[in-house]
Amino acid sequence: MAKYIINQTSITGGEISISGSKNSALPIIAGSILCTSPVKISNIPNLSDIFNMYEILNYLGCEINTKSDGTAIIYMNSPKNMLVPYELAHKFRASFLVMGALLSRFKKAEIALPGGCPIGNRPIDLHLKGFSAMGAEITQEHGIIEAKCDRLKGAKIYLDFPSVGATENLIIAASCAEGKTIIENAAAEPEISDLANFLNACGADIKNGGTSTVTINGTKELKGCEHNIIPDRIEAGTFMTAAAMCKIPLTIKNVIPKHLKPITAKFREMGIEIEEHKNYIKILRPGNISAADVKTLPFPGFPTDMQAQITSLLSITHGTSMVVETIFENRFLHIPELNRMGANIKIDGRCAIIEGTNRLTGTKVTATDLRAGAALTLAGLIADGTTEISDIEHIERGYENFVDKLNQIGADVSITND
Ligand code: EPZ
Repeated sequence: MAKYIINQTSITGGEISISGSKNSALPIIAGSILCTSPVKISNIPNLSDIFNMYEILNYLGCEINTKSDGTAIIYMNSPKNMLVPYELAHKFRASFLVMGALLSRFKKAEIALPGGCPIGNRPIDLHLKGFSAMGAEITQEHGIIEAKCDRLKGAKIYLDFPSVGATENLIIAASCAEGKTIIENAAAEPEISDLANFLNACGADIKNGGTSTVTINGTKELKGCEHNIIPDRIEAGTFMTAAAMCKIPLTIKNVIPKHLKPITAKFREMGIEIEEHKNYIKILRPGNISAADVKTLPFPGFPTDMQAQITSLLSITHGTSMVVETIFENRFLHIPELNRMGANIKIDGRCAIIEGTNRLTGTKVTATDLRAGAALTLAGLIADGTTEISDIEHIERGYENFVDKLNQIGADVSITND
């Protein structure tokens, strides 16, 4: 199995450029199924999750032409299959995002339940509740969810929780439904604004996408368009954390500063100086960093996808910090591994109490999920000696050219396959 080998070095800093957002590209690629003419999407990151989504769309009957520069032309003329089998669906959670498009355009969808993942059960009840409200008939047998309808009808939907995926799936479904849909308590993450902008460029009529109340007036047909994926705010936050942990100056290019606000605000509270510019930010060489309390919340709160990374930073920050994870029920899997590197973190339910330590020491650790793996990589950059991280496929699925970018700022990271 592939592993990262990280040797501690004096990291210099410099600059890196952020890739397109995985969590924006996935719903937009799924939404392309709605369009009756080709869609051209650019700035798509080169990641296994993206290829898995292409595999699903190919299986369904989409023609997909991709280029090495992160551009894809996607065209769903007529479906070959209407069932996404378990072998494809279980590889990643976002597979379920094709349901809204299949249902809205082809009036039928069958998808194997994607199943949970290390960070939590990941139910889809809010997705299904919304589809039912729009007139879909939903059945579940043998691990397959089947949804069908004559034509989806606009509805007023209140999400019990501002679920990102449910908001995305329902906006896609409502785009070609008959009449008006209002989604209340919708997720407001930047990736949802990007999805709404994409669908509107295809001819949809979506208002206030990226706010907690989204209105969609269904249109009969969506045509193709050209769309550029927004930068990945979580990759940017991960490198902000690397700069803080290694105490290096770092220019992070190709970002949208307002998407980073909850992270920037927390870092400034900790005494880290950050300059914000139009499409880049600069982390000035961090001096003394203060302990802090962090609670993950739906956007614009502090993102759960940055919780593991900031926990790594707080583990070497003098003082007592507290991290509360309110979004997922099992997202502290990085903590036992950090403690094996010398961190002093106690877990009590959804709360982690961190006593900052002066140093971490390198050892063998395991990446349990995407962001836990990123957190361990950051810890390895500053740990004494050598850190070996196994199961790095979890990390590689969410960070494009991660090792190259880390080495570009002076790290010594290599991949072995022994
Ligand atoms: C998206 O997952 C992201 N993935 C996740 O990023 C991110 O952590 C999450 O949003 C929260 O921001 C993609 O965009 C591909 P949710 P999603 O639906 O849509 C509960 C990463 O690291 N819930 O907002 O699955 C659920 O159990 C990944 O890049 C229901 O109860 O997240 C969880 O507790 C990890 N019923 C909470 O809502 C539902 O029907 C948030 O889930 C749906 C969700």
